Amino acid sequence: MTRKLFVTTALPYANAAFHIGHMMEYIQADIWVRFQRMQREGNGLREVHFVGADDTHGTPIMIAAEKEGITPQEFVAKIAAGRAQYLDGFHIAFDNWYSTDSPENVELSQGIYRKLRDAGLIQTKTVDRFYDPVKGMFLADRNIKGECPKCGAKDQYGDNCEVCGAAYQPTELVNPFSVFTNATPVLKPSEQYFFKLSDPRCYTFLRDWLNTPGRLQPEMVNKVSEWLGEAGEKLADWDISRDAPYFGIPIPDAPGKYFYVWLDAPVGYLASLKNYCGKQGIDYDALLADPGTEQIHFIGKDIVSFHLLFWPAMLQFAGHPTIERMKVAVHGHLTVNNEKMSKSRGTGISPLRYLNLGMNPEWLRYYIAFKLNSRVEDLDFTGEDFVARVNSDLIGKYVNIASRCAGFIAKKFDGKLAASLSDSAMAWIKRALTTENGAERQANIGANFDQREFGKALREIMEVADIINQYVDENKPWVLAKDDSKTAELHEVCTTALILFRQLTVLLSPVLPGVAANVAKFLNDERYTWADTELSTGAVYQSMLGRTIGAYTHLMTRVDAKMIEDLFDAQNQIAAAGTAPAVKAEKPAKAEKPAPLAPLAPNDGIEPLDAEIKIDDFMKVDLRIAKIVNCEHVEGSDKLLRLTLDAGENRHRNVFSGIKSMYQPEDLIGKLTVLVANLAPRKMKFGISEGMVMAASAADEGKNPGIYILNPWPGAEPGMRIR
Ligand code: 2FM
Ligand code: ZN
Repeated sequence: MTRKLFVTTALPYANAAFHIGHMMEYIQADIWVRFQRMQREGNGLREVHFVGADDTHGTPIMIAAEKEGITPQEFVAKIAAGRAQYLDGFHIAFDNWYSTDSPENVELSQGIYRKLRDAGLIQTKTVDRFYDPVKGMFLADRNIKGECPKCGAKDQYGDNCEVCGAAYQPTELVNPFSVFTNATPVLKPSEQYFFKLSDPRCYTFLRDWLNTPGRLQPEMVNKVSEWLGEAGEKLADWDISRDAPYFGIPIPDAPGKYFYVWLDAPVGYLASLKNYCGKQGIDYDALLADPGTEQIHFIGKDIVSFHLLFWPAMLQFAGHPTIERMKVAVHGHLTVNNEKMSKSRGTGISPLRYLNLGMNPEWLRYYIAFKLNSRVEDLDFTGEDFVARVNSDLIGKYVNIASRCAGFIAKKFDGKLAASLSDSAMAWIKRALTTENGAERQANIGANFDQREFGKALREIMEVADIINQYVDENKPWVLAKDDSKTAELHEVCTTALILFRQLTVLLSPVLPGVAANVAKFLNDERYTWADTELSTGAVYQSMLGRTIGAYTHLMTRVDAKMIEDLFDAQNQIAAAGTAPAVKAEKPAKAEKPAPLAPLAPNDGIEPLDAEIKIDDFMKVDLRIAKIVNCEHVEGSDKLLRLTLDAGENRHRNVFSGIKSMYQPEDLIGKLTVLVANLAPRKMKFGISEGMVMAASAADEGKNPGIYILNPWPGAEPGMRIR
């Protein structure tokens, strides 16, 4: 049977930008997906559909939009517009990014609800709910505060006390008040819709579903089994309704009632898939009904109850075809220096700051992958460890092989690899790529990727790298190159090392897709697949022998420990970066006296200043931070580059800029710069330019002919105004 995979990550609430925890989950799923996409399936490669979406509904987003004086839809659109820079920035290759506020989600959520109702699993009950009489709305637990009924702490939310940790009902709070109006809430009866999780059918199904071998991690089976109780007696009915006003999906035949956000959020997985199928011309129903289709959700440990109780039960009793082939992969949280991340303590890592500092996204992908396993364990980031791991493995062991050997192929052999290898070189290839028992290492590495044991896979890949480095060290191409009688040997050693370097690249490509693409370009390869790692078929070396390769350009730089310092929130950089001596040493001592200012050089001809202006004149120019999302040459122009800019609006701008002499398009993509955003569009020979990017140039081009575009400090984001 042909396997097909439908893969998701948890849908993030559309009320904030991504944080580093999101990126960790996406990186994990993306690596797994990329590995799966490299697998042979039938006559081609495995079909994988990897989708995400914004989780848009619920009270917090409704209230946040209200505060900004915009509709929830506008609010969500603003957040959604900021997603691509993170996803593209960290090479997360979702096939589709959608929204739970979509027609597909309305149709699917209401459809599932109707089926549950037809199955007798929906029940209404009248319950007393807190109501804000001033605002005229029912209050969610987090919209009510008061004194903790257990310890008396003031200003605690309606669901649990942050001082003593007690959990309670909002009705138990002492002196409760509405967070919106400070009014004392009143209890008001309201008819609510419940999903009958207490129905014995749910217990029987969940027990069997959970215990299907291979479906869930053992610790999750244990945890959820506890929630079920001996015979399901612990399963309580789930309130799936909220009263208007609510930003959500209306419950059919229930005027004024909406689905609780957690009812329609996971349905958003299906909505995104359906939307994607529509765009691709794939038959959504047929895909799900296909017995080869598996459904895999990557989620964090904090949302397990929704995914291992409610969601499977909903799908089962709504007749969802892949429920028996659905798995949930749960991960732990990301901690920094073994502490939960906290902005106030300065231990947060902003993914955008990371990118804007010029840090390579694949460093983080590698580091996270190296620390991941298939268990539900927290993953700790420490600056010192990050620098050491990346520099030692990626630079010291991996890139180093190519940088020590590729130059000789270009210089001495016109870029051509040797056409054949001696038995001794073949023996080294075999030694690097097989275990002591003679098994191909790629099979074990592949199995570890498949089982989400990324750390194990990478450790074994680094063992391969160690052997290759040993080969290079023993054969010393730099010494052979000095002796004309050793030319053939040099050719063989460099060819063998590059064959093995290519192997490392293929094995690492799920983790380092950007580097792998550059290596493929340099070696004149097509897209890498797992079949390229097979030694028994000769795929490892045959196509490399006699091949002409391109020029080697450096693939990755070392992490500079100073970057780690800058990565953490400014007020607490050192504490957050751990005790890394390299980081501390670079920070000037606190009480150091500033050096005296150097005397100014005589003015040797800067451009004279323009006439003075008032601040109002300046404010007429609307300068914005813009991200260069694409950049390309303009055919027929030797001066211009065409920039596609994201200035935080709901559109891209096309801007021509005369900076071709200074920059390669690929160097600018992903960078932030400064845009004159309210300049009237100009019709140019090559199209319309919608604004202008700012650049500096010298008055006297003879002295400095360059033109330099501006690049803001880390922390600036597209759309920010410069004032
Ligand atoms: O916890 C969260 O961030 C939720 N927005 C996750 C939803 S996952 C799925 F159900 F949509
Ligand atoms: Zn308390």
